[in-house]
Amino acid sequence: MSSKFVFRSIKPPDVMNIRSLLTKVFMASDPLARHVGLSINGFHSMLDTILPNLDHKTSIVATPREGSTTRLGIEDDDIVACLATAPLDIPIEEKKINRRALPILDLLQTSQSSFKSKVLVPNSIPESRVLHLAMAATDVDFQGQGLFGGLMKEWQSQTNDGRWDIAVAECTSPISRYMLRDKFGWTEEKVVPFSSFEVEGTRPFFELDGEVALVYKKL
Ligand SMILES: CC(C)(COP(=O)(O)OP(=O)(O)OC[C@H]1O[C@@H](n2cnc3c(N)ncnc32)[C@H](O)[C@@H]1OP(=O)(O)O)[C@@H](O)C(=O)NCCC(=O)NCCS
Repeated sequence: MSSKFVFRSIKPPDVMNIRSLLTKVFMASDPLARHVGLSINGFHSMLDTILPNLDHKTSIVATPREGSTTRLGIEDDDIVACLATAPLDIPIEEKKINRRALPILDLLQTSQSSFKSKVLVPNSIPESRVLHLAMAATDVDFQGQGLFGGLMKEWQSQTNDGRWDIAVAECTSPISRYMLRDKFGWTEEKVVPFSSFEVEGTRPFFELDGEVALVYKKL
């Protein structure tokens, strides 16, 4: 039950715990990272472009509610789920990204391309006013308990302060795609099957099942 948890905007000391949680969850289960044989350092080369640029108000964490006995060994201030957001215009220095991670970055950027040309440009929306839901993860011991849904509800309540015109996410998980599109009413702009994605004449995710769905929501 999500009432056993508190959902709140992040504070500066949370950032290292978010880094640990994202690393633990993605290294264990992300199909793209596994397919390219990404190391922890390689994953960090991507993650560390985002973390210094997080928007602290709209990045949300879930922690066990004070006094709740959700699991032995879990402290009240431990983060069990997180949603990491940042403005879409943050600088990404490709030379700092591990070469094995580059196809993942290329895939995500390709999935954004028609959103930029068909949605941002015609509506004169600058990327600085686009809120990017960059990553989300729930600790494997807490998955399926409504935490991602709780993160999204708290996120929604933090977005109406006039800073953002639109939000965007690249869903590589069918669960996040289902939640954003079907439960929270986001619009699906583009779907790129992993296996057909081509970059520089190669298909880095050939034979990998799944797809990335670019979804957006006007704020
Ligand atoms: C995607 C993720 C963040 C979802 O977190 P979660 O806290 O388990 O999600 P919730 O418990 O809020 O469940 C969301 C919905 O998906 C469903 N769901 C959750 N886990 C599921 C599973 N393994 N299989 C099928 N459906 C599942 C839930 O029933 C719920 O639907 P409902 O509201 O209609 O009942 C989590 O699975 C995760 O960390 N995955 C690995 C990292 C990842 O893929 N991140 C997103 C990249 S875009």
